[in-house]
Amino acid sequence: MELYIDTANVEKIEQYCAQYPLAGFTCNPTIVTKENRTVEELVNLVPGKRVFVQAIAEDYEGILADARKLRSMRDDIYVKIPCTPDGYRAMYTLKQEGFGILATAVYTVGQALMSAACGADYVAPYVNRMSDTEVDGCELVEDIVCAFASQKIETKVIAASFKNLNQVVRLLVAGAEAVTIPLDLFEKLINNKLTNDATKVFADQWEAHFNRRAI
Ligand code: G3P
Repeated sequence: MELYIDTANVEKIEQYCAQYPLAGFTCNPTIVTKENRTVEELVNLVPGKRVFVQAIAEDYEGILADARKLRSMRDDIYVKIPCTPDGYRAMYTLKQEGFGILATAVYTVGQALMSAACGADYVAPYVNRMSDTEVDGCELVEDIVCAFASQKIETKVIAASFKNLNQVVRLLVAGAEAVTIPLDLFEKLINNKLTNDATKVFADQWEAHFNRRAI
């Protein structure tokens, strides 16, 4: 299982990747611009972890140029490429050049299979965005997981676009190898109120008996 945070918040990336067993972080152009960050500020964060940055260009040659520029900044970068006609071509070319590739903006099983055929290391289905189109995003990801298993495809599913933890957990149970979750959900994942309340009661009772909140 690989856990990623989906953010361009530099401080939180450095903090959480140091404190928790996160595999790294992902971002996309919307996230980067909202955080008012630059690629240069993000690309070399958390050495030794996995970092995913998205190509911006929409045309084949432009995607190749973006990917090569990203790899010139960090040699183990994973380039996110949308599942468009030129995106597939770029994935196919870049994989032959040894790039790490994540096929992004996946909405169908067919796109996931085509991305895997082009050599993508990861495919990123947008779970909640699918749900906004009346497709059950979790069911579709489960279908992708099944399709990859039946075809013995090694490409990993990194599910993205979540609005609640139930979606995250359901897809990990379904066999998605990875999830990338927004900061607010990651903080909910590690900070359960019921657990915190129970822990406080334990310490209170211990302190009442032993006059200390420690062994
Ligand atoms: O990179 C994909 C992911 O960040 C999309 O999430 O919440 O914008 O649908 P969201």
